[in-house]
Amino acid sequence: MNGKFYVTTPIYYVNDRPHIGHAYTTILADVLARFHRSLGHDTFFLTGTDEHGQKVQNAAEKRGVPPLRHCDETVVRFQELWKRLGITNDRFIRTTQAEHKRVVSEIMQELYDRGEIYKADYTGWYCVGCERFFTEKDLADGKCPDCGRDVSAITESNYFFRMSKYQQWLIDYIKSHPDFILPAFRANETLGFLKKPLGDLCISRPKSRLNWGIELPFDRDYVCYVWFDALINYISGVGYRTDAETFARRWPASCHLIGKDILTTHSVYWPTMLKAMGLPMPQTIFAHGWWLTGNTKMSKSLGNVINPMDMIDRAGVDAFRYFLLAEMSPGNDANFSEDAFIARYNSDLANDLGNLLSRVSKLTIRATGGTIPAPAEITDDDRELIAAVNDAIRTMEESLQSYKLDQGLDAVMNAVRAGNRYLEKCAPWTLAKQGDTARLHTVLYHAADALCRVAVLLAPVMPEKMAELLSVLGVAPETVSGIAALKTFPGVTGCTMREAIPLFPRIMEEEEKPAVKEARPAKSAPETVPAVPPVTIEEFGRIQLKTAKVLAAEKVEGADKLLKLRIEVGSETRQLIAGVAQSYSPEEIVGKTIVIVANLRPAKIRGVESQGMLLAAKAGKVLKLVTIDGDMPSGVVIG
Ligand code: ME8
Ligand code: MG
Repeated sequence: MNGKFYVTTPIYYVNDRPHIGHAYTTILADVLARFHRSLGHDTFFLTGTDEHGQKVQNAAEKRGVPPLRHCDETVVRFQELWKRLGITNDRFIRTTQAEHKRVVSEIMQELYDRGEIYKADYTGWYCVGCERFFTEKDLADGKCPDCGRDVSAITESNYFFRMSKYQQWLIDYIKSHPDFILPAFRANETLGFLKKPLGDLCISRPKSRLNWGIELPFDRDYVCYVWFDALINYISGVGYRTDAETFARRWPASCHLIGKDILTTHSVYWPTMLKAMGLPMPQTIFAHGWWLTGNTKMSKSLGNVINPMDMIDRAGVDAFRYFLLAEMSPGNDANFSEDAFIARYNSDLANDLGNLLSRVSKLTIRATGGTIPAPAEITDDDRELIAAVNDAIRTMEESLQSYKLDQGLDAVMNAVRAGNRYLEKCAPWTLAKQGDTARLHTVLYHAADALCRVAVLLAPVMPEKMAELLSVLGVAPETVSGIAALKTFPGVTGCTMREAIPLFPRIMEEEEKPAVKEARPAKSAPETVPAVPPVTIEEFGRIQLKTAKVLAAEKVEGADKLLKLRIEVGSETRQLIAGVAQSYSPEEIVGKTIVIVANLRPAKIRGVESQGMLLAAKAGKVLKLVTIDGDMPSGVVIG
């Protein structure tokens, strides 16, 4: 990588309400931009909105407002969300801006003058939803190959860009530039697409059908195809044809970040357009996977979107940014669920990182009043921690090159866990009691230093929280202003630590559940009546509960949750399979008087017959048997 970095996101359709999918691409771009800025690279980060085309025209008509006013009113959803998410884009481009429109128009005129654009009759199939024409062979069972909706046949005169003539050049270019389309399997997808003859690209729409677009400079009866218009934002946004100096400084882009849904437009249309214009190719087009909910793509038309605002309100911006980046391995799809969010938040942030900070701050304040001491002689334990931190730095640097930030974050969390293990092993609380000040100081120093380095590595992902962490450590942010500065950072000795307030307060599952599923009672409020229909006393009477005494117990092979019990129920002996093995050992359970459902129809569990079911209370992972208060023989009816 040279000393510059120019990253883009797709320009999103202004009509959409931004959801987690849009937020993901934009946060990923933001984190990359922050990292590169911290490395001293001349960084530029462009995002924006795609405002022309059929969908916007239709939506504006429906609301009875002019299209531009409609755009002005909806674009703020994106702008406000990016502000809330701490997105540090250098420019927000809108394709309705005069400058962009002029650049698109000039490009069209030039390509037309040079014979790269020509007019012809065209019969095709049009999908209104996708705003795309398809040829007969593109269709999937007569429907749109992208969204599966109905298409309509249209014959009209149109203008075409001679895309076909660049087919072989593009194939060769992709093959000779392994970083051009990433991950590599996406390059193969594009090469697969290019095995079929590539047609020319229809770049006009007759105004009779659609007039919300950029007029063709050489034929006023037409407007420009929305994709041809939109892709040009990547160059019009950095001064192409308006500011030669800026353009020379920024272009080519280092990375166009996109979702896999728009791979073809970016890896086929865009490169051939650039080639026709005589411009260099972007260094990398990185296509990440989709966020799914319940295994289907999150999309507005499917009505299964998750509003980022809800998640931010519950856990904060930084935790949200962290979750999205840590959870998705960007080549693949990822599933979004609130449970996964809370689980990762609690384990990585509240437990591992939050704990390490509060332990180190308490111990240091107790030992020295807050001043981080100088280390004495280094031991293997110290070296192990330092190695984990150095591994995190290296992996994070690598993941910036490969765009796989989840791997970098994983290595950082490994270092955090190594920090907690280090404290357990070195037990500074014991060293303090023993009066081994030299070793105590060494341990406190290394733990604080590891935390400081972790905070620097995580800062582009969680800027606010990591600034807070550094301030708890008493480290001035300018003394260690990025991953590169870590190489020369002299360490934390002499910084004054203050008491940590919990950086990431634990989210109690119990508190959270009712907000998500209203019907479900909180586990922490057992007095709440569960939302199940009431039963009559007769109905309840059909269930026979009895006392039973556990005579023997053994584990069920291959099932770590199950115990096989032999129980006495009055004069009979029964066998019962119970899912209690994670809370009770066989020895613990033998001899107890428990409560069973005696008239439950026998069932086979893991191939073993169970004659009845025992009662137990379960809260999360904690399970307690229902037993009898005092002595009672077995086989007594309960009611
Ligand atoms: O396609 N998972 O805009 P768009 C992950 N205007 N990412 C997702 C996602 C999901 N479920 N849903 C959306 C357009 N995205 C054109 C782009 S660019 C010159 C023109 C993200 O509003 C992802 O980055 O449909 C995807 O490529 C983009 O939003 C599509 O946004
Ligand atoms: Mg889309």
